[in-house]
Amino acid sequence: MNRATPKVTVVGSLNIDLVCHAIRRPDKGETIIGDAFDIFTGGKGFNQATAAARLGTEVSLVGSIGSGPFGDLLLTAMKKENINSRFITRRTDIGTGIATIVVEPDGDNSIIVVPRANMALTTADIDAATDCIADADVLLLQLETPIAASEHAAAIAKQHGATVVLNPAPAQPLPDNLLGYVDILTPNQSETELLSGMSVNSHDDARHAAETLRERMVDGEKSAVVLTLGAKGSLMLTETTSELVPALPVQPVDTTGAGDAFSGALATALASGENLQSAVEFANAAGAAAVTVIGATPSMPTRTKVERLLKSKK
Ligand code: RIB
Repeated sequence: MNRATPKVTVVGSLNIDLVCHAIRRPDKGETIIGDAFDIFTGGKGFNQATAAARLGTEVSLVGSIGSGPFGDLLLTAMKKENINSRFITRRTDIGTGIATIVVEPDGDNSIIVVPRANMALTTADIDAATDCIADADVLLLQLETPIAASEHAAAIAKQHGATVVLNPAPAQPLPDNLLGYVDILTPNQSETELLSGMSVNSHDDARHAAETLRERMVDGEKSAVVLTLGAKGSLMLTETTSELVPALPVQPVDTTGAGDAFSGALATALASGENLQSAVEFANAAGAAAVTVIGATPSMPTRTKVERLLKSKK
């Protein structure tokens, strides 16, 4: 679709992140003293919507939250980020999703997500957002909301010619029905291993696993697997090419949300009509920018920041 502002619709999760910074993760049965604590908005859906909005896209988020103060925090943040919240359903019987996160000094993180209201998202909620999904250039999905809802949204998007991008995180086995609607899949290394059933220890392994996944996706020229490999970059596999797009070297302080910045930026670039190669370069830079800032939502970069980073590394 050709319009002045590209349009991305995200169907996904909204969480409140409770973040402890500590020297290391506690062992089983152990209590340790942490260094700092933060409360941030989060959830892969919310973070990816925020990334796309900060990068200049018109964004709607379809999701489900509770009626208490955590839900209020997320709605206020959506307003501030200019994300359309019309298709957020508020539930009175269940609380907003929560993530407890431990961040270690090298920026590595461990996360427990308790999905709560996220898992209450229904196909009826998706039906209510049909026009918004049908009108999008890109539909962006993750796996913190029910598969049935994602599959229904993907079917609507495909019917109307939108590109469907699935960030398969957190990893879980995927039905062929859902993958059959996906144009672009963005797994990391461990997600690739779980989804393909193959170990990924080398570039060749990564390519074979990505090929196996691509065979289960939409059959077409634009279908691609973009395997994110952290500091090594992203392996882009299409019908005709297999190419490693290198990462931009940065000093990480917190890797939480790097995959969300990547997926939000990839969706933005594709919705703007960029080809896959330049979309992946842009997304790599957004992921790199994200690891230099503490917190998931706070680290979603602006377009100025991504462009500055791309320029400085040329
Ligand atoms: O990808 C990072 C996100 O994962 C966090 O914001 C947390 O809420 C979990 O969903």
